[in-house]
Amino acid sequence: MSFENIFQPIYVGRSEFRNRIIFGAHFTMFTEPNPVWGEPGYYGRRYGRYLADRAQGGVAAVIAGETAVSADTAYKMPNNANGWDPQCIPHYEQLTAQVHEHGAKVLLQLTHSGAMSLGNWSKQVAIGPSVSPDYSEAPKAMDKKDIRAVIDAHVVCAQNAVAGGFDGIEIQSAHGYLLHQFLSPKFNFRSDAYGGSLENRMRLGSEIMRAVREAVGDEIIVGMRLAGDDEQRHGPGLSADDCADIAMGYENLSDYFNVSVGIGGVGMVRTNYSPHLFGVYAAHTIKKSVPDTPVFAVHRIITPEEADGVIERHEADGITLVRALIADPEWVNKAAENREQEIRKCTGINASCYGNLLQSMPINCVQNPAVGREDDLGLGTLGLAATSKRVVVIGGGPGGLEAAATAATRGHQVVLLEQNDQLGGALRWAAELPGRKEIWEIAQWRIDECERLGVDVRLGTPACVESVLALAPEAIIVATGGRATKFGRSAYHPMPVPGSESDWVIDHVEALTRLLENPDSLGERIVILDALGHAAAIGLGEMLAVNQKFSTCVTPLPLPIALDGETQAAILPRAVQAGMIWRPNNAMVAIGNHDVTIVDVHSHQFETISDIDTVVIVTHGLPEEDLYLALELAAECPVVRIGDAVAVRPVDRAVYDGHLAARAL
Ligand SMILES: Cc1cc2nc3c(=O)[nH]c(=O)nc-3n(C[C@H](O)[C@H](O)[C@H](O)COP(=O)(O)O)c2cc1C
Ligand code: SF4
Repeated sequence: MSFENIFQPIYVGRSEFRNRIIFGAHFTMFTEPNPVWGEPGYYGRRYGRYLADRAQGGVAAVIAGETAVSADTAYKMPNNANGWDPQCIPHYEQLTAQVHEHGAKVLLQLTHSGAMSLGNWSKQVAIGPSVSPDYSEAPKAMDKKDIRAVIDAHVVCAQNAVAGGFDGIEIQSAHGYLLHQFLSPKFNFRSDAYGGSLENRMRLGSEIMRAVREAVGDEIIVGMRLAGDDEQRHGPGLSADDCADIAMGYENLSDYFNVSVGIGGVGMVRTNYSPHLFGVYAAHTIKKSVPDTPVFAVHRIITPEEADGVIERHEADGITLVRALIADPEWVNKAAENREQEIRKCTGINASCYGNLLQSMPINCVQNPAVGREDDLGLGTLGLAATSKRVVVIGGGPGGLEAAATAATRGHQVVLLEQNDQLGGALRWAAELPGRKEIWEIAQWRIDECERLGVDVRLGTPACVESVLALAPEAIIVATGGRATKFGRSAYHPMPVPGSESDWVIDHVEALTRLLENPDSLGERIVILDALGHAAAIGLGEMLAVNQKFSTCVTPLPLPIALDGETQAAILPRAVQAGMIWRPNNAMVAIGNHDVTIVDVHSHQFETISDIDTVVIVTHGLPEEDLYLALELAAECPVVRIGDAVAVRPVDRAVYDGHLAARAL
């Protein structure tokens, strides 16, 4: 076995973990919903199936959560999980049995969000160490009764968890939640026994850990999700060394430390803009202070090589993976069987996982169409087809590649026709945007799978009705993609912009192509209109600025709203710091003779930006559907179209379409 360090068993408390890989806590919204919409539900069978796929995939332990410990923290998002009502126990029993069936341990993360709670629906007041907001609402500073209630709530929830079959409890003390708020000088301004010195700021955490341990006994794992670095560049916060001192103080109370970084929402789910292994430094700092207690490292650990190296270098004892295992539940087994090349890698783009959650929707994954739909699409559901058919897939973008690979997995004979000399479709240009090259993993994994499974890939082969029918297909999947256009409509901006028919006004794909091939052809002064709020306009703006061009991005939106908060927090600073001028809340009303007129959507003040060489319009594209429409008339076999050939949408839809189309064959 190549990765011997991650496959060493380890004791965590009194439990033996079969290896060093832990599926870390993450809220998914796969909670069994409460019949009263808006009220929290229970973790049960659906979430259990999702976790069980990772257990079957070989992880040592899964951590379910977060779970709300009391009603005053249960309304931050829809479909939160209720951990305090004993009605959760029968649901837990199902979930834990599903995971145990595959030999993994299962822990439950207990959370109080403190000042991060929201009362929009519940009208409950947020509570915190001080009147220091961590979200949009000002909290109440906790009094002694509140403190007692929070300790008792953790105890009740831990007892429920044990009654429901959990092997352990993880107390959330990171990510800007209540216990982290107590620890951090950013939020805790108390002058009583719970504020001031580090010992005082740790007091609530210590009291909870002690009370939970007393309630559940020594056989149950009681560990901590611990802040590893507040990363506060402006203002007070905990440094990595402070966090190491905290770990030392908690050492006798915690069976492990699962070390994260960041505070206050943004920072805990690092994107493609952060390097792999980001966060290991914080675990390592803590490891040095608590050498005898297992420490888990997290954040952008993507490959078995990376994970193995962390253990080998003694930077941590265990590896918490979240998105890597969302993207590929079989990550561990593939590593164990020396099939690591077959791992479907997480891109770090966040769009469908954390991005969905921030829009109050259940998570899924651009790489893994099964997420949240494990009953129908999860492990063990993709069998061989009853009869092997000749399948022609037209178009080698993400949807076509997924369709081809999935059809081949099912035993069909697949021909994939691609008119270009390269596969990947729209991902080819999307991966050129600064910091976003890992989006190419979506194409790469499927290209490798097509090769492994013997798909007949024909590059440089434009398809027409005659050439497709000449292959005598028994099923045709049309994945011809879409095309960018400067005239496409947008929900946020009237289109087309008057004057946009001029040939110095171009769409973003042409702009990017020319920038890569011949930057001079764009001239020196470029204005981009972003009518989407996605990554393309800002990424292009950054590239232009890096190329020493005058680069201005005009958008009617206040922020790139199609991106998750973590991506927004990364993409804008880097573009602006590279020199891109960011003009939010502005519409482009006219394009004149090498100038553009913009208007502030609030003040209605007009402004002209002069001496412009190129205007780039980033808006919705249009489907390439002609071949599909012709084949539908001409072919005698089933013809389906997928992905952008239906409507130009984010890439996860194309992958999902391709997957379902191939399953339906
Ligand atoms: C969708 C999503 C939800 C998350 N929810 C939680 C949570 O409830 N509790 C928690 O401690 N961390 C949560 N996290 C953070 C993860 O546990 C983990 O620290 C983070 O994703 C970085 O690890 P990764 O790079 O392996 O994904 C969440 C992450 C994601 C992607
Ligand atoms: S949606 Fe993207 S970032 Fe999230 S787990 Fe899947 S591949 Fe990773």
